[in-house]
Amino acid sequence: MKPAIARHPRLEAMPASLLAKPLDYIFADHFRQRTLCNLLEELADAATPDEPLTREVIGFLAGDMALHVQDEEEDLFPLLRRRCPPEDEIEAVLSALAREHHADERMARDIVEGLEACMAAGRAPRTDADLRARLTEFARRQRRHLAVENSIVLPIARNRLTELDLANLTKRMAERRA
Ligand SMILES: [Fe+2]
Ligand SMILES: [Fe+2]
Repeated sequence: MKPAIARHPRLEAMPASLLAKPLDYIFADHFRQRTLCNLLEELADAATPDEPLTREVIGFLAGDMALHVQDEEEDLFPLLRRRCPPEDEIEAVLSALAREHHADERMARDIVEGLEACMAAGRAPRTDADLRARLTEFARRQRRHLAVENSIVLPIARNRLTELDLANLTKRMAERRA
């Protein structure tokens, strides 16, 4: 008989103490989203159903990932719009990212629905060609989105946001997770 090995989550919880440095928190959350992309591709390719992983991915998409988009749309992006001078040309970048958030939200809902249907039927996601394509496309889009946020948005935020802005960001993000 095989020894029982406790299954650890593939997406670790964020340390709440990191909220004191909200831009570092967002950066670390981006790292988890890269892990999510790898897991979506793993699910797309798996020959057999992996229910614990599927449940974890569904929980992340509907939970932490949705909170992260709210952090950006409701707090970080508005702060940047207020603080950045026109020469930063941030508006075009933020509008494109917001459009991607909306499109990705719809795609995430379809993915959650597809994964739940697969779980209910005891099938691996790769038996559903549309779902498989959505999983890999979502991962591809997310990686590009993360690259823009890490290489443009966060460096400008580090430059432009004031100490008070960062304190308010901490407060808002903590309230959202309370
Ligand atoms: Fe982000
Ligand atoms: Fe984003």
